[in-house]
Amino acid sequence: MNRSIGVCYYPEHWPEDIWEQDAADMAKAGLTWVRIGEFAWSRMEPEPGNLQLEWLDRSVANLGEAGLKVVLGTPTATPPRWMVEKHPDMFAVDENGHTRGFGSRRHYCFSHEGYRAESRRITEILAQRYGANPYVAAWQTDNEYGCHDTTLSYSDAAQAAFRDWLAQKYQSTDALNRAWGNIFWSMEYDTFDQIGLPNLTVTEPNPSHALAFRRFSSDQVAAFNLEQVRIIKAHSDAPILHNYMGRITDFDHFAVGADLDIASWDSYPLGFLEDRMEDGDAHKRTYAQQGDPDFQAFHHDLYRAVGRGRWWIMEQQPGPVNWAPVNPAPLPGMCRLWAWEAFAHGAEAVCYFRWRQAPFAQEQMHAGLLRPDRSPAPALAEASQVAEEIAQLSDVSTAKAQVGLVFDYASAWAWDVQPQGAGFDYFRLVFEYYRGLRKLGLDIDILPPDCADLSPYKLVLAPGVLTLSDALLGALNTFDGVALIGPRSNTKTEELTIPTPLPPNLPGLDATITHTETFRADMERPLENGGTIRHLQEHLEGSATILEQTAEGVPILIGNDQIQYLAAWPDEAALGRILSALCQKQGIQTRPVSAGLRIRRTDTHVFAFNYGLEPVSFDGQTIQPAGVYWTTR
Ligand code: GAL
Repeated sequence: MNRSIGVCYYPEHWPEDIWEQDAADMAKAGLTWVRIGEFAWSRMEPEPGNLQLEWLDRSVANLGEAGLKVVLGTPTATPPRWMVEKHPDMFAVDENGHTRGFGSRRHYCFSHEGYRAESRRITEILAQRYGANPYVAAWQTDNEYGCHDTTLSYSDAAQAAFRDWLAQKYQSTDALNRAWGNIFWSMEYDTFDQIGLPNLTVTEPNPSHALAFRRFSSDQVAAFNLEQVRIIKAHSDAPILHNYMGRITDFDHFAVGADLDIASWDSYPLGFLEDRMEDGDAHKRTYAQQGDPDFQAFHHDLYRAVGRGRWWIMEQQPGPVNWAPVNPAPLPGMCRLWAWEAFAHGAEAVCYFRWRQAPFAQEQMHAGLLRPDRSPAPALAEASQVAEEIAQLSDVSTAKAQVGLVFDYASAWAWDVQPQGAGFDYFRLVFEYYRGLRKLGLDIDILPPDCADLSPYKLVLAPGVLTLSDALLGALNTFDGVALIGPRSNTKTEELTIPTPLPPNLPGLDATITHTETFRADMERPLENGGTIRHLQEHLEGSATILEQTAEGVPILIGNDQIQYLAAWPDEAALGRILSALCQKQGIQTRPVSAGLRIRRTDTHVFAFNYGLEPVSFDGQTIQPAGVYWTTR
């Protein structure tokens, strides 16, 4: 598989007389892909029905004639001002009932039928006009669904659509009342029209109601996306992508991904470290200019799964961003390292965001490959270096990992609705398992929750999965390796109620959770063999063999050679020990790494990345900070 690099570009921000030079410079820098169009609706259609696409025709031609391939974005993340005048009720409404206004982006509610029709209309116009254009080699739907908290909307449109969704799902309010347990607090409904959205209640709403709303909201994103996909597909054979984000779990990316050809995501390692990670100051100081050593890799593996093997970086951080609490510059070399790490995880393309820094508006302090005055910014040379290097090493193909880690969006919603204790965060739980595995030098495949074939793996981990799907339970029944399930996995029904028999109900494991406690973040419960547990402990009874217990003799890990249940959230030391022991038992060779070093294997190569501030040694080589090393396997 050939690898390539690209860039995001906004021709509408610049005078047309520099476009040709831009395209020539992009080609000279070794770029292949140029994404355009995704925010340009006000220039595509300055007034309702007044289409002005000649500039876009010229831009596509200009880029194509320079040998570049265009990714054309549908502009639906930025409806222009006239649109909100035409549809004054199209805005999303936040949980407090406040309407979200015009003046930035993503100001639409996924359930608004009028806006949905506008989205189909502009997509149809673009697909008809560019579907057969030889320079348009890929499409992007919208931009970053869910970014800026835009999946959930408590609007009238959402309320009406939610009622329809409930009526279709439950058929009768009796069935819904039973499924949710609405007899509790006399919450029973007689008609679907009585059911509101789960906000503005006096105290917490019924968790089943809240989870149903989360499932509905996710379905609305997938439906919105599918409408665009169907239209584009009718006119174009080019692959369709969407650019997902880091640590956004509000909609099921697997569901959206099922309708797309390739997954892509927007990787801003320094912004994410400051803005989206719980790690303490020391960690953030150490990695301030490199990014967390595992956050990007986690998403690479996640989106490889979402894209069923095909994925890109659509936006790669090129320098300081503007949106995190602090916005340092990457260490020299990081814009190269990040790209190589993505390729080592199977990315087909890495596109930098953006070609030239904008001198105006919200992102004027956000770097690009060029400065606002058109002179090169530091990342340009690094991008060109990557382009030269991939030309020499184009055969980077993904290897199947020996370890599979399940990721389930519905579990993120469920534990958000009902955390049972502050600090219980599903993403964080799964991420800590991932980090523990990476520190053992392992490659990991992320698995969807309905994965029906575990045969490639020797070890499968499923922490915090609300309800194990029939597919996964079936696969576990015949699995040759060992599965580590829990904490909290299979402990609820899909309606977020407690099943009987009591959980975890795993094949071949006599164990019952009698009760669950969560405890203060500053309390620890040491384990007999070292390390401690945090946040949550499930108490077990049953005849399964006890494999780990607390210092006080309370079982924490139980099971056998096929399946084990971990009834707590282990700290790094305890998790590392448990994972190492499982790997050893399964004959999975580990290679524990020093602090900032991370390893990734492809079919043909071993890559090593130094995220740390000190040189590290690997295979007898010294890798400098921000350095990348590879060798054949
Ligand atoms: C992304 C977004 C881009 C730009 C970028 C800035 O989230 O897709 O349009 O805003 O962040 O870092």
